[in-house]
Amino acid sequence: MLKKKIVVLTGAGVSAESGISTFRDSGGLWDKYDIMDVATPEAWARNMDMVIDFYNQRRKQLHEVEPNAAHYALARLEEKYDVHIITQNVDDLHERAGSTNVLHLHGELKKIRSSVDENLVYELEGWELKKGDTCEKGSQLRPHIVWFGEPVPMIPKAAEITSTADIYLIIGTSLNVYPAAGLVDYVRSGTPIYLIDPGEIHASNISDINFIKEKAGTGTPKLVDELLKQAN
Ligand code: APR
Repeated sequence: MLKKKIVVLTGAGVSAESGISTFRDSGGLWDKYDIMDVATPEAWARNMDMVIDFYNQRRKQLHEVEPNAAHYALARLEEKYDVHIITQNVDDLHERAGSTNVLHLHGELKKIRSSVDENLVYELEGWELKKGDTCEKGSQLRPHIVWFGEPVPMIPKAAEITSTADIYLIIGTSLNVYPAAGLVDYVRSGTPIYLIDPGEIHASNISDINFIKEKAGTGTPKLVDELLKQAN
């Protein structure tokens, strides 16, 4: 039997219970850092040391944390569904939990790339990128991260996947950042949409949304159990 397609859009909230802080909650990363200082091409041009250090710290932390119950539950969904995860997160916790189909909209912390040729992407061994580390063309390596003001090359693919979803899940994102937040508009009308977030609903423009006001680590396993039961 053909499996139904579940598409899941995740944000920082899905990794919060693993110990990675979100961006816009109080005490979040953008309370501690100015986006313009660490996450823009201008910051890279102006103060490369600070940008490298910011992502080195994030990468170091990633080596110290583990997936949580939400990541594991989403991996379990693959038993009965064709699951596509579209994540805004740059961590690899979905993959480490066992999800096999993960599209990273905003890049990946554990990868680095050439600053002159975006197609030259490498896995970084360990957590530390250093000034002076160069690609095969001799240019400085930079974090493989989509910074504010840069194009988001994975958006067309993500939109196409979204437009063929039978069920759509949104977990732990403030839906503040475009174009990612606009993906929801590609969900076909009539498709069941579930949103898991302990905060306020950010998707007031989405009609017929099933809002589960819980943390990802508790809300996701419950919803996954329910969806697995429905598939039987
Ligand atoms: N479980 C689920 N959701 C949670 C949890 C939790 N335990 N804790 C917090 N949240 C929710 C918050 O209520 C909020 O809605 O996660 C969301 C986090 O929102 P943001 O911090 O804005 O993160 P995100 O939406 O992923 O940000 C998008 O912004 O800075 C950029 O590139 C960065 O990919 C990121 C993008």
